[in-house]
Amino acid sequence: MNFLEKYNRYLQEFEERLAVFCGDMSFSPELLTDSMRYSLLSGGKRVRPVLFYAALEALGGDWRAETEFALAIECIHTYSLIHDDLPAMDNDDFRRGRPANHKVFGEGHAVLAGDGLLSLACSLLLKTATDARRSTAAMLLSDAAGPGGMIAGQSADLLFEGRGAGEEELLFIYRNKTAKLIAAPLEMAAVLTEKSRKAMRNFGENLGILFQLRDDLLDVQGESEKVGKTLGKDEAEKKLTCVRVFGAEGAEREANRYECACLSALDEAEGDVSFLREMVSYVRRRDR
Ligand code: IPE
Ligand code: IPE
Ligand code: MG
Ligand code: MG
Ligand code: MG
Repeated sequence: MNFLEKYNRYLQEFEERLAVFCGDMSFSPELLTDSMRYSLLSGGKRVRPVLFYAALEALGGDWRAETEFALAIECIHTYSLIHDDLPAMDNDDFRRGRPANHKVFGEGHAVLAGDGLLSLACSLLLKTATDARRSTAAMLLSDAAGPGGMIAGQSADLLFEGRGAGEEELLFIYRNKTAKLIAAPLEMAAVLTEKSRKAMRNFGENLGILFQLRDDLLDVQGESEKVGKTLGKDEAEKKLTCVRVFGAEGAEREANRYECACLSALDEAEGDVSFLREMVSYVRRRDR
């Protein structure tokens, strides 16, 4: 199997589980259910569940048996995107090639859809945290999503808009808003299999930074039909990005550096991590 076939194998499994999860949702008012479904089913890359499944398989875990964790990861990520697009945050009208949640359901319901998805993630985690390892994995995700993780990064992202901040502040934003939710699934897989926890965390932190470097570069250099978002938004909102701090060429050099750091981290991991190695190249070169 080549890289794409392997990716699609994880993706297909996840999409099937997600379709069932969304099909079972029947909250009133119906609009609330519709708004959560709209964003969940709008076809993201599903990088975080794919990383979770791939790390589980690499470390010898039963990856198909961990649906609740995979769903919780994507619910939290999707909620973060809905809120990120709100006029009070990045004010983005497009997401995943479609109108942003608040453009379809209104700002109030976009806030509530995000809140709903976060609460659903909590329920999924509690349901599956039936032993010590599973509780630790659930805690990892909850911490990564919270005010010591993604929320801290989003807060700093807003605070540093239009400010003359530099590399240190940029790294704080990257580590928290993006890398925490990329490292969490990898470390969760390590906790569940009791293998290579340090290596997986280290890999995830570097991959998360690489992921956001590429995201910032795509905002400047990408094709909007592929990226599925309005481009040039970071400059318009005076965001602190790698392009602002390092320039486009400098940002590419940083990306090369983090690509190497990802591969070195994987050298320390057990199991067959060949797919995860290919994920590094995918994240570095992705066009969407
Ligand atoms: C976008 O994440 C937000 C960032 C952390 C850069 P993704 O690029 O994973 O978005 P989807 O899920 O594929 O739409
Ligand atoms: C957002 O970073 C990271 C999140 C926690 C959602 P960005 O604001 O750069 O993500 P995009 O470009 O809107 O997807
Ligand atoms: Mg943002
Ligand atoms: Mg944004
Ligand atoms: Mg961006």
